[in-house]
Amino acid sequence: MSRIQNCVVFEPLSLPNSWTLEAYRSIGGYSVWESILRDKPPAEKIIEDLKASGLRGRGGAGFPTGTKWSFMLPARDKPGQKYVVCNSDESEPGTCHDRDILRFNPHALIEGMAIGGYVMGATVGYNYIRGEFMAEPVPRFEAALKEAYAAGLLGKNVAGSGVDFDLHCFVGAGAYICGEETALLESLEGKQGKPRFKPPFPANFGLYGRPTTINNTQSFASVPTILRKGPAWFSGLGVANAGGTVVFSVSGHVNRPGNYELPLGIPFRELLEDVCGGVLEGRKLKAVIPGGSSVPVLPAANIIDATMDYDGLKKAGSALGSAAVIVMDETTCMVKVLERITRFYRAESCGQCTPCREGTGWMNRIVRKILAGQGTKSDLDLIVDVANRIEGHTICALGDAAAWPVQSFLRHYRHEFEYMIENGGRSIVTDAARRAA
Ligand SMILES: Cc1cc2nc3c(=O)[nH]c(=O)nc-3n(C[C@H](O)[C@H](O)[C@H](O)COP(=O)(O)O)c2cc1C
Ligand code: SF4
Repeated sequence: MSRIQNCVVFEPLSLPNSWTLEAYRSIGGYSVWESILRDKPPAEKIIEDLKASGLRGRGGAGFPTGTKWSFMLPARDKPGQKYVVCNSDESEPGTCHDRDILRFNPHALIEGMAIGGYVMGATVGYNYIRGEFMAEPVPRFEAALKEAYAAGLLGKNVAGSGVDFDLHCFVGAGAYICGEETALLESLEGKQGKPRFKPPFPANFGLYGRPTTINNTQSFASVPTILRKGPAWFSGLGVANAGGTVVFSVSGHVNRPGNYELPLGIPFRELLEDVCGGVLEGRKLKAVIPGGSSVPVLPAANIIDATMDYDGLKKAGSALGSAAVIVMDETTCMVKVLERITRFYRAESCGQCTPCREGTGWMNRIVRKILAGQGTKSDLDLIVDVANRIEGHTICALGDAAAWPVQSFLRHYRHEFEYMIENGGRSIVTDAARRAA
């Protein structure tokens, strides 16, 4: 594999105890933060560098980070509290890279958030961490925070610079919806995690009604390296419209599943064959969900020649999302997969909007009815109709995330659903395997 790997957020991974301050310092960690404390560069200059780097939010929507930070500039020097908040809720099915940043490179996140605090005039930050991460990611992050405070890198008047930045760790209670940025803010305020209507957006009305910027763990953790090595270096790693690297969480039917930090724009074929060792046991590739369960599924033929970046996957008919690549081989029954996905969204809907609250339940019940051998042909039109009525009609994007898998599974694999309806709940895949045996 000739591709450059692990050069931004996973850079210290090969070092012993990579999560410690000592290891992070050995790769130049905190040098950007210290130079900011010393020289107090204009916030606009750092924002320009981030824009030039091509960094786009890694939380799923791919919004340019420099542009997002610039929304805070009007409030930056005005009196009143501002906040930076990190989204470490990471609950998108298939996604498992943010927890590894917390486990193996927590200081990069701390430095990235401190830089964000300086740029946006926020003297307080919170990292909202998923409730299930108590075993390793939370203690590692908390230990890193302690180290950073002890080294005089955080707090009031940091290193006599006149700059204040306090950072707190907040552990959620384990709800997917709390990853949606405004639900996260509600949860942080001690309320039920229910998304807010937007606008106003968090830069105008965020935590406790104050200007706030929320970024994903990987987005914040990329910032120190970008500023240390330069925006041109970072943008040059990726492709047009998608600078840098991303951590692909590859799961499913591959020989070597795992987290791989690679340049954006890597061809899918290379990721599958060279990086992940090909499809499990040499079987045939059937389908891929390339960006976490919320993005449309792609049949093998549609993704095999695609590039793994925002534009490449859009062109192929899906999205980069959270870069969680779920690979399915020829033994996969797509009706069963859709049952599992619709069950997830049914359970995770917060219930505020009728189309999402009722529709996610309907979609799951229809797939279960088909699996039970009680489906009818009209169910297939009905489930697509329900999905279409959810899409674009809800407060937050969970509605779209629930609708897109249904629409795309029915678009590409309708024949599997029809077969099951016509054959009393038997799967086309199982029947084909039986015939072949
Ligand atoms: C239902 C739902 C769940 C989400 N979960 C996460 C999550 O776990 N982590 C995350 O970073 N973003 C998540 N997002 C996206 C956030 O709302 C937000 O866009 C992101 O944290 C912004 O950071 P970025 O600009 O750095 O990507 C979720 C969005 C929705 C609609
Ligand atoms: S779309 Fe679903 S999860 Fe989002 S606010 Fe509405 S009911 Fe809640």
